[in-house]
Amino acid sequence: MDNITAVILAAGLGTRMKSKKAKVLHQAGGMTLIEHVAATAASIAPPERIAVVVGHQGELVEAVLGSRGVRFALQREQLGTGHAVAACRDLLAPLGGDVVVLLGDCPLLSPATVERLVSVQRGSQAAATVITTVLEDPSGYGRIVRAADASVAAIVEHKAATAAERAIREINSGIYCFRGELLWKYLDEIGTDNPAGEYYLTDIVAILRRRGYSVAPLLIEDPAELLGINTRAELAQVDAVFRARKVLQLMLDGVTIEKPETVTIDAAVAIGPDTVIEPFARLLGRTTVGEDCRIGACSIVRDSELADGVEILPFTSIESSSVGPGAHIGPYARLRMNARVKDGARVGNFVEMKNSELGVGAKSQHLAYLGDATIGDGANIGAGTITCNYDGARKHPTAIGAGAFIGSNSTLVAPIEIGAGSYVAAGSVVTDPVPADALALGRARQVVKEGWARKRRETRAK
Ligand code: UD1
Ligand code: CA
Repeated sequence: MDNITAVILAAGLGTRMKSKKAKVLHQAGGMTLIEHVAATAASIAPPERIAVVVGHQGELVEAVLGSRGVRFALQREQLGTGHAVAACRDLLAPLGGDVVVLLGDCPLLSPATVERLVSVQRGSQAAATVITTVLEDPSGYGRIVRAADASVAAIVEHKAATAAERAIREINSGIYCFRGELLWKYLDEIGTDNPAGEYYLTDIVAILRRRGYSVAPLLIEDPAELLGINTRAELAQVDAVFRARKVLQLMLDGVTIEKPETVTIDAAVAIGPDTVIEPFARLLGRTTVGEDCRIGACSIVRDSELADGVEILPFTSIESSSVGPGAHIGPYARLRMNARVKDGARVGNFVEMKNSELGVGAKSQHLAYLGDATIGDGANIGAGTITCNYDGARKHPTAIGAGAFIGSNSTLVAPIEIGAGSYVAAGSVVTDPVPADALALGRARQVVKEGWARKRRETRAK
């Protein structure tokens, strides 16, 4: 859309959140509120025509949005939404065009609805159009007072409303499209004559009317998109809406999701068709999952790449790692810090892999710690194998060749190399390199004392 500028109000702390963190930095659907709103703004205006009003933790808000190229207006003191829009005057007024006002705490608003707002405004004679909706419980919101001709006569804030006005269930979404020159011309007429002593942007409606202009309502039937977040309870509601939207889209795209209401999937996660997601799974951050995979119940996958046909059994945790096609992980496995499990490999219960590679078809099925290790194709890591990668000061690598067999309960003291095709006997402590195809035994030789136990019993019986 051409010739639009957008304002995003995001300077408030959000007192009702009872948080040290500014409201717009809280997350819903796996993204901060301000990122959601900035993404919506970006659908109608190029970044240099978007001004974000910052105040509380402004540096953090700027850091979160920095890469998007939007502009920032500092509102040092939060004196109200009218005062906040005025902070953008120097940035936006010279650019001309219509001004869309968005709220940083209203992240569900879709680009389609904002586009509709602009079209409706442009097709009308009004000075501004405001998105409204009807709520079962309108308390807290500004109320829409309609004029005889059904245009908006005034917006009355809840705190300032009379009992009769509070009975109105049509509310102000806080999202508007203004004819720019009129907004900038009359904005300064807003005063602070209200119970909160704030500059209410909503007062501009009555001001425009007095000047002979009209303000049009755009009544939206479904209030879901317009939910504003003032409390943590509302944050949870909005989060649930984002989650539900995401799983619905994935299901329509061919992913099976069991008990979808229990599953948490972030916006940026991609999942291939015919993958099955079991209850209570969490797929977070920049995670991609291929086709024909299964993600076991209660597993958590963050910022990781899972190829096609991967099976993750329940209660597995995978972070910043990659899993090749047809690999099996879990239950109760942990992959972290660039663990790389290659095609068809198997990682079983209570195995932790950190910054390690498990080669094609290799197996580590039970109870192991593999840290800073490179394990060749087809190797078998026995139950209870530990790579001793840390000497208290530094980390050291372990290299295990293709087809090697590490017996159960082996302790591999790094740095160490174990050659391809070699065997390490169960229970060994390995401190010296093992050549290819060799057998390494690193344990005390067994001693058997015939009859010892019987004699002991007999002596005790006396
Ligand atoms: C506002 C509207 C209300 C509407 C509701 C919809 C006003 C006066 N009221 O009320 O009619 O029904 O939104 O959700 O506009 N902000 C600043 N600087 C300030 C004050 C606020 O940047 O000085 C920002 C806040 O950070 C927030 C947004 O503006 O992101 C809305 O402010 P908030 O205090 O939540 O307004 P509401 O009381 O919800
Ligand atoms: Ca609000």
